[in-house]
Amino acid sequence: MNACVTGLQWGDEGKGKIVDVLAEKSDIVVRYGGGANAGHTVIVDGTKFALHLLPSGSIRPNTICVITNAVVIDPQVLIDGIRKLAEKNITLDNRLLISENAHVVLDYHKKEDQLREEALGKNKIGTTIRGIGPCYADKVGRSYAVRMGDLRNLDKLKAKLQNIVDYKNKLFTALYNAEPLNADEIFQNCKSYAEKLTPFIIDTTEFLHKSIAEGKSILFEGAQGSMLDLDHGTFPFVTSSNSSALGMPSGCGVPAKMVDKFIGVIKAYSTRVGAGPFPTEQDNETGQYIRERGHEYGTTTGRPRRCGWFDAVVTSYSATISGIDEIAMVHLDTLAGLKEVKICKAYEINGKETTFFPANIDRLSQAQPVYETLPGWEEDLSEISSFDDLPANTQNYIKLVEQITKKPITIIGVGPGRKQTIFR
Ligand code: GDP
Ligand code: IMO
Ligand code: MG
Repeated sequence: MNACVTGLQWGDEGKGKIVDVLAEKSDIVVRYGGGANAGHTVIVDGTKFALHLLPSGSIRPNTICVITNAVVIDPQVLIDGIRKLAEKNITLDNRLLISENAHVVLDYHKKEDQLREEALGKNKIGTTIRGIGPCYADKVGRSYAVRMGDLRNLDKLKAKLQNIVDYKNKLFTALYNAEPLNADEIFQNCKSYAEKLTPFIIDTTEFLHKSIAEGKSILFEGAQGSMLDLDHGTFPFVTSSNSSALGMPSGCGVPAKMVDKFIGVIKAYSTRVGAGPFPTEQDNETGQYIRERGHEYGTTTGRPRRCGWFDAVVTSYSATISGIDEIAMVHLDTLAGLKEVKICKAYEINGKETTFFPANIDRLSQAQPVYETLPGWEEDLSEISSFDDLPANTQNYIKLVEQITKKPITIIGVGPGRKQTIFR
């Protein structure tokens, strides 16, 4: 069975945990998009792993891990990730495969990300400064792009980098009055990346199709979430890739029809990190309560996440565009202790109610959430292992989300650990 796990909110939904749990029954886990802007947390027996580029199946010793074409790879972050796992006696030797066609994030991408955000001032996107936008821009622009396969031909790469860095330096000095970068330094870094990473570089599309033909079970893992999708999210406050499940087929060269099940991950509330519209945001005591109880601070940047009520308009839209079959809802434990809990079931825009999410931010900025208020629950859920043992108010909350989104919630998270997962 092949499945795809994708975020249905603004990222950080808990994809890492869900992928790790589902990876138990998968032969292969595939990261199909985004870059080191992602931070996927997996907690196993109290040990915490923060994965930025490695698939969340990496922790399981026999799982093949694949990073496909549409991922933008910061080689140093990947090397650090491999090393950190090795320090915990988890080796990726003979089970990590990296696409030769994945694009490489280099120093000038991170520099440009930072310079551009600084120049934008109060209009900044609030990116992770991981060079994501500039790297995808070079990919689309084609002429100044470096791909993982280029690490196999260093002479050619040296000349290519000289040309790219000359061009970037002209831009950076003219536009931002910035210090020029040194092409040779970047090349020397690439030489060291090549030494460590070339053994893993292959044609991942061929590998995946062979594996599918052999009947292997594959789990596809998305990064970010549908609301950050370049084409379907809250543009321009998005990332630079198709981070909904729509990015899966193009991201790895496997058609969606070869995936048996699309699983969307949501939190029992909403969070967003970075700038941009967030209709159900609670910039108040409730938001603070959720942030502290849920440890809502970024895995990649450490920034406090903005918190708010669950938005069923967002989830319904995301589930629709991503073709979601089932939902995993995590962090129900975090909401415990609130007297009342709210679910946004519609937006009112200029006096008219809508249940279809307006991805155009001019309309979205007019949206007033229409809430359904439910009684909360006091009980600690973290030890509960079956749906029937959940408090009635928690069950009702889950059922209302199912009713509004018309999707079954088949996996429930009651804590960050692998075992704190309820299957229905
Ligand atoms: P991802 O980017 O979607 O993988 O999510 P992150 O790892 O960035 O953020 C999710 C956070 O929630 C992590 O710290 C997880 O350990 C944690 N988490 C996941 N599921 C649950 C849950 O059911 N309850 C609680 N309390 N924490 C959870
Ligand atoms: P995971 O995979 C949450 C956000 C950034 C910013 C916007 C653009 O852990 O869910 P970028 O650096 O991509 O150009 O930033 O997207 N963002 C994320 N927010 N989780 C993520 O990944 C994110 N990746 C990017 O905060 O608002
Ligand atoms: Mg994250």
